[in-house]
Amino acid sequence: MSDPVDVTVDTGEESESVRVHDDDGEVDAGDATVRFSFSAGGRAADDGQETDSDDPRRIAALDAVPTDSTLVFEARDGRRGVDCILHRSGDAVAAWRNSCPHRPEVPLDPGRGAIVRGDQLVCHRHGAQFEPEDGVCTHGPCAGDALDSIAVAVRDGDVYLTDERFERAERR
Ligand code: FES
Repeated sequence: MSDPVDVTVDTGEESESVRVHDDDGEVDAGDATVRFSFSAGGRAADDGQETDSDDPRRIAALDAVPTDSTLVFEARDGRRGVDCILHRSGDAVAAWRNSCPHRPEVPLDPGRGAIVRGDQLVCHRHGAQFEPEDGVCTHGPCAGDALDSIAVAVRDGDVYLTDERFERAERR
């Protein structure tokens, strides 16, 4: 805890105030003992363990991943970072390198979300279409090629980077 706070316990017969400098503790007032804990910065209040929101591999809440577009994140390993995109179909989420197989320097999501037509991802440059499950190009100049898959998983309503090539995910 960075700043102390005053905790007052009023039992009706007795009132006791203490200045608290720790994240948790106890205050005695009369016969009552009140245990407290504070939560800040995403840390669990009761045991000091990190919550999932502190997990460096957490990318986003599942609900925040669009079905009609994509969400950009960076998969990082040390000083190396790879631009990636997330896309959701129902409760299923898939991630790929943000790069078109036709011209790898062209991102599918140029920063405003990739085009999704029907259930297919569409490259804005020459119109290549990709399956949302496996990233295979079904139509366009790179038909038969596939997007570079990035391993992710959904756990407790959040999406996590599980690809062993990377150690953490960062949102832009
Ligand atoms: S750069 Fe994507 S289809 Fe040509």
